Amino acid sequence: MDRVTNLNDSTHNFSTPFCWELAQELLSTYGSPLYVYEGDRLRQTIERITKAVSYPRTQFRFASVTNGNIALLKIFRSSGWGLHANTPGDIYLGLKAGFDPSEIVYSGSNLNWAEMLQVLDWGVKTLNFDSIAQLQLCCEVFLDHAKARRRKDKDVNLRLGLRVNLPETGDSRIGVRPEEFADAIALAGEVGLKLGGLHFYRGTGTNATTAFTQVIDTVLATAQKLPDWEFLDFGGGFGYPYHHGGAAFDWELFGAELTDRITRLGREIDLVIEPGRAAIAGCATLLAQVVSVKWQAEKQIIGVDTTVANLSVPSVHGGYREIVCWKKTDKIYTTDICGNTTYSRDYLGKNCQLPALEVGDIIAILDVGAYGYAMSSHFLHRPKPAEVLLENGTHRLIRQREDYSVLLTNQVLDN
Ligand SMILES: Cc1ncc(COP(=O)(O)O)c(C=O)c1O
Repeated sequence: MDRVTNLNDSTHNFSTPFCWELAQELLSTYGSPLYVYEGDRLRQTIERITKAVSYPRTQFRFASVTNGNIALLKIFRSSGWGLHANTPGDIYLGLKAGFDPSEIVYSGSNLNWAEMLQVLDWGVKTLNFDSIAQLQLCCEVFLDHAKARRRKDKDVNLRLGLRVNLPETGDSRIGVRPEEFADAIALAGEVGLKLGGLHFYRGTGTNATTAFTQVIDTVLATAQKLPDWEFLDFGGGFGYPYHHGGAAFDWELFGAELTDRITRLGREIDLVIEPGRAAIAGCATLLAQVVSVKWQAEKQIIGVDTTVANLSVPSVHGGYREIVCWKKTDKIYTTDICGNTTYSRDYLGKNCQLPALEVGDIIAILDVGAYGYAMSSHFLHRPKPAEVLLENGTHRLIRQREDYSVLLTNQVLDN
């Protein structure tokens, strides 16, 4: 583990996450491109979100769909958060990171029989279903599982919930309409289970706090249609201010309003909050190096040693990530940052405002902690970058860089 001497930089004009000397040291130690996570910053964000919701029966569950690196999952665990799993793979990684199954909430979609059995076998007890068909499958698998293992009594502590589909919050394929609740309650009752949970997911990534606060009353009224209601899972979907200085989700306002409304109900329900990007986006930077420079009239076209396959969000799925460098200058140019392939969408950033760059300069793509590495792929046949964690003035590798051999994984070569 190497010692970091200075995390602050006083010589740049851009808002870089750490000093140039450190960026240089990291790239010479681990190679380029490189995902760099700031552990201390992650812990601060977790603490801020945790403090914002003062309702005493709140459980935070990190939505690892955004980032499945085990070293980072361990930071959430040591900060007192559990895990939110969208898929069995999320659960698998969560267990490897040391989460107890009781700290994992599953709210996903479209499992088959074997997957449902696997989830129950792993011991996950809190499950939110997005359709009556998935609830029915769970009940059938539960019965079978119980019979096979003679563990019916022990397994009755399953906490089942439904993801609600509220027409007021927009059109969505996911979720169960309140008018279907009666059928769902009857189904669970047939196998001796209760439906005690309501899961609500407002939508992805909005920074408009009122989009969440305005629906609290509707969500609580809907939850009370479940006679055995005992827990509310309020999602995910909280925004992150990728445009620095732009609109930001107001955790304190949201936490105060939610706490107030639930407290006023006068019943002891558990509250689950499962932030993804809001918790982890801001702690990571993708470092890359300039490999070519050309000009098209006044526009600077910069080629870097990474690609949208290493960070697929901005140009493939939309969205914006700020790109900065460490050059001190008065003169900036409209710049496209292009990946190292000819794929037509291989832009890491378009119309960025940057100084004239040279081959070998380092650029930093900010706020890539969520849906960054997690959505990277082998499209374009470029191996994935390494991941490094900065913590307590040190840095360490938390995922190896891939080499070309990964492109052969699972290929059948001798036929
Ligand atoms: C049920 C659920 N919870 C939480 C999340 C995390 O969402 P976000 O990163 O927008 O907070 C997702 C994302 O797909 C989800 O489906």
